[in-house]
Amino acid sequence: TDYDTILLDRKGRVGIITLNRPKALNALNTQLLREIVTAVEELDTDSNIGAILITGSDRAFAAGADIKEMHTKSYMDVYLDDFFSIGDRIAAARTPIIAAVAGYALGGGCELAMMCDILLAADTAKFGQPEIKLGVIPGIGGSQRLTRAVGKAKAMELCLTGRTMDAEEAERAGLLSRIVPAADLFDEALQTATTVAEMSLPIAMMAKEAVNRAFETTLTEGIRFERRVFHSTFATEDQKEGMAAFVEKRTPQFTHR
Ligand code: HXC
Repeated sequence: TDYDTILLDRKGRVGIITLNRPKALNALNTQLLREIVTAVEELDTDSNIGAILITGSDRAFAAGADIKEMHTKSYMDVYLDDFFSIGDRIAAARTPIIAAVAGYALGGGCELAMMCDILLAADTAKFGQPEIKLGVIPGIGGSQRLTRAVGKAKAMELCLTGRTMDAEEAERAGLLSRIVPAADLFDEALQTATTVAEMSLPIAMMAKEAVNRAFETTLTEGIRFERRVFHSTFATEDQKEGMAAFVEKRTPQFTHR
């Protein structure tokens, strides 16, 4: 597939999506969002890919939905389009997704980062949901995912005032997996993605699904779900290989990776 607004690259078993609308600080217009979704789905269905890395530029991961494209839309336009529901397809990917965020991750950019499974941020990163300043509210999951990640008090303040938080504050609040120096962000993210991609792919998918289940259900049901999936790992060749390798003091050679 040809892409105009992203760069798609593969390094080993890692698929790398780089948002590439630098003049608009990677503002998410329809084309960019579509291309991200198409690339994620292309990589998600490729068994040679074990992890997906999504990143932007030094200045911006993404400065939000494209306001210039959006500002003339009517209620019927956004309703009939089910505007931004396309984002659900990113969250639906089974392959683990790592976000590497430097600079602005605002509005839809913050929401895109929060759809990912591991969120690494440079010390230059800035997160926020400034939609209220435009007379709208978050529309790609921000009011829900931010609240689950950082709690009501901070999410409410960010959504009501539109203020941004820096990487330090975002990490303290529990939004991030880790902060790394800006100069090391890409290498660290690629290393993390490679580590995940070297695991058994079906087992990584099961781990992702089990962690995500914590957001969708009660503790009792979540633990029951985990136990069923844990038991099912014993039906895989990779469980046999992983445990045999430990016992034999060698590196596992997973079949499904
Ligand atoms: C369209 C954008 C944009 C955006 C930046 N640009 N953000 N274009 N949509 N979201 C464009 C600018 O218009 C400008 O282009 C170029 O990118 C560089 O931006 P500047 O503003 O000149 O840069 P700077 O002064 O450094 O300020 C950076 C910034 C600011 C603080 C990130 O650009 C900003 O506030 N952007 C909007 C952030 C925002 O409100 N995001 C939420 C969007 S709503 P030109 O050609 O004019 O020079 C959203 C909601 C989703 O995501 C769901 C709602 C239904």
